Amino acid sequence: MSNFDATKLLREDLNDFPPYSMGHVPLAELDSLVKLDLNENTYGPSPKALAAVAQMRHYHRYVGQQELREAIARYVGVGVEHIVTSNGADEMIDLVQRMFLNHGDAIVDCPPSFEMYAFFARVNGARIVRVPRREDFSVDVDAVEKAISDFRFQISDSANPTAESLISKLQSPKLVFLANPNNPDGMMIPPADVERLLALPALLVLDEAYAEFAGQSYAARVPTQSNLIVLRTFSKWAGLASLRVGYCIAPQAIAAKILQCKAPENVNAAGNVAARASLDDLEYLHANVRRIVAERERLAGEFGKLGFLQPLPSRANFLFCRVLGRDARQIHDALAGHGILIRAFGAPRLREYIRIAIGTPEENETVLKALREM
Ligand SMILES: Cc1ncc(COP(=O)(O)O)c(C=O)c1O
Repeated sequence: MSNFDATKLLREDLNDFPPYSMGHVPLAELDSLVKLDLNENTYGPSPKALAAVAQMRHYHRYVGQQELREAIARYVGVGVEHIVTSNGADEMIDLVQRMFLNHGDAIVDCPPSFEMYAFFARVNGARIVRVPRREDFSVDVDAVEKAISDFRFQISDSANPTAESLISKLQSPKLVFLANPNNPDGMMIPPADVERLLALPALLVLDEAYAEFAGQSYAARVPTQSNLIVLRTFSKWAGLASLRVGYCIAPQAIAAKILQCKAPENVNAAGNVAARASLDDLEYLHANVRRIVAERERLAGEFGKLGFLQPLPSRANFLFCRVLGRDARQIHDALAGHGILIRAFGAPRLREYIRIAIGTPEENETVLKALREM
């Protein structure tokens, strides 16, 4: 019997790979918490979606995704040939990268932002060109332009004389990943900046996970813009986070390539019927989106009055607040003591900030009461 140690065959570039941690709350405890740490939709799925999952009788069959793609295409207002569905938007980040990145190719990431862009780039053996956001969390478009257009120049200008030999192998970054609105700050990229990014010789991947709360999307632009992919999800506005349904709107040839290469049943049947039922219950779900947006604006005002929180203007379903004169981690821990989960950050640049998803008016009152007592 062979006792060959197969761990020796593992990719060495994945040594020391830090896992993505979301924290874990046992299912049994979910109902006793005010859970505002992961930007979920506190109102949950539409009753029609829950009924569709319960009534579905074909979980023993492979159901395909054609009808789901067609329903999404109608919702977004583009042809079905532009739509590809995925196991959450997360999987689509991975799929898009795998379609474009050879080992050693680069993406542009603009931290602080959603961490899965860099996470999957590492898994896919890609390089990450980091273009940090400005002090106010806006995208430094000048620096992104430089990272793309002047890339060869930067390399040949390097102090390392052997870099010259690398130039032929190194390409300028292929993909630019930007969330719009961004997570964690909730702010949008000004339209003029999006135009500058679209003018670059790269593919712009706009992650619109929170588009329904912002009331704005670039999806309709995709059919006439050959270097734009828009990512969307049912996790936030439709409250289906753990059913895992995401999708992209991509130029036809790119969508066809992803369809050709992805696992055929990557969206499970429960997610599939729930997503379709959600699209049949837009009035209900959009009413919840409006409630969340109204509460976001009310809470931003109330947080501002506390004297130690400075909320940034958010277009998403959460508020990102600068903590003044206090310790953000202590606020996080004190709220946890009241059964309220919010997000604090380890990264040095974010240590003075907290992020709080918008709950129901009752949940938000619980948060406000706890904060006022601090
Ligand atoms: C910007 C952004 N994109 C994508 C996702 C993940 O979406 P999904 O649940 O569809 O994988 C999140 C989740 O927090 C997010 O904040």
